[in-house]
Amino acid sequence: MKGLILSGGKGTRMRPITHTAAKQLLPVANKPILFYGVEALIAAGIKEIGIIISPETGEDVKSAVGNGERWGIKIEYILQDAPLGLAHAVKTARPFLKDDPFVMYLGDNLIKDGVGPLVKRFQEGKADAFILLKEVANPSSFGVAQLDKDGSIICLEEKPKQPKSNLALVGVYLFNPMIHKAIDEIQPSKRGELEITDAIQRLIATNHRVDSHILESWWLDTGKKDDMLEANRVVLDEMTDVSMLGTFDDASRVSGRVHIGKGSILKNCVVRGPAMIGDDCSIENSYVGPFTSIGDGARVSHAEIEHCILREHCQIIDFHGRIEDSLIGVNVELTRSNNKPVAFRLMLGDDSKVEVV
Ligand code: G1P
Repeated sequence: MKGLILSGGKGTRMRPITHTAAKQLLPVANKPILFYGVEALIAAGIKEIGIIISPETGEDVKSAVGNGERWGIKIEYILQDAPLGLAHAVKTARPFLKDDPFVMYLGDNLIKDGVGPLVKRFQEGKADAFILLKEVANPSSFGVAQLDKDGSIICLEEKPKQPKSNLALVGVYLFNPMIHKAIDEIQPSKRGELEITDAIQRLIATNHRVDSHILESWWLDTGKKDDMLEANRVVLDEMTDVSMLGTFDDASRVSGRVHIGKGSILKNCVVRGPAMIGDDCSIENSYVGPFTSIGDGARVSHAEIEHCILREHCQIIDFHGRIEDSLIGVNVELTRSNNKPVAFRLMLGDDSKVEVV
């Protein structure tokens, strides 16, 4: 069984952050989202992973993930010239996949329970494809499955205007090589893409067996800012391996599950977990509230930060205000020249400079 992780695309819904970074490399609890997918496949026993990359962000993905050595597996990169759909990505990966069965994992998806049990079920069963479904409130934003009384799939549709159910296709799929023939038989959709949903529908229409499983636990598709914050909240909420590698002075109070990385120094701060502070951060006279993660090398002073992702090396200095529900890019400098209390909701791309006067 091989793994195929999709980490291409342009991340248009996450601009301006994705002008300078691949969306799959944005951090959830200070770890790139993509790593959750890689680790889920490895935990399922997969030792050969292909990662689909785009010309725009491929080099960044390669240097962040590497060749798999750090996990003791093999990772290969497959360049998809243009974002022409998930089925097009599979087509592009054919020389890597050969005729092996594979798990396809969308690099911006996170699922709670990993893929181990699903891989086992697929390997033991006789299905040509196995899909995951999840009840959602906004099915029109996803591929949607209609099931009959016995739970068999009647049909699948990509982002239907009038969805036939509230069951969305989760971005984790298991296939045997039959999917390649189905992909060869479909046409691009209205949005000009070769849809994997249409290829699976093609399998169903040609009497192949497609099994499904409805997820009970959480699934997050981190396409937009609020999805990222929600992913960060959920992962921090479940974080158990916290460690206090940095230091804080007697005037600081740290409560709840809080990870503080090595070399980080906190002075006169209140930190309420769950929260994660990276390495070599300096935080002074500030409040860091629940569901916040702060990247390595960040500097914060005179600020209240809650339910935020602050990326590496950002500087929020003498701010005298509250920042909540925000995603702040790498190297952002945020300063203020008066100290009347205020609150902000922000999405700031890498290297932004903001001065509030
Ligand atoms: C893709 C699939 C869709 C699926 C979703 C899950 O959509 O086309 O069927 O429900 O991933 O994340 P996209 O994120 O490309 O819009």
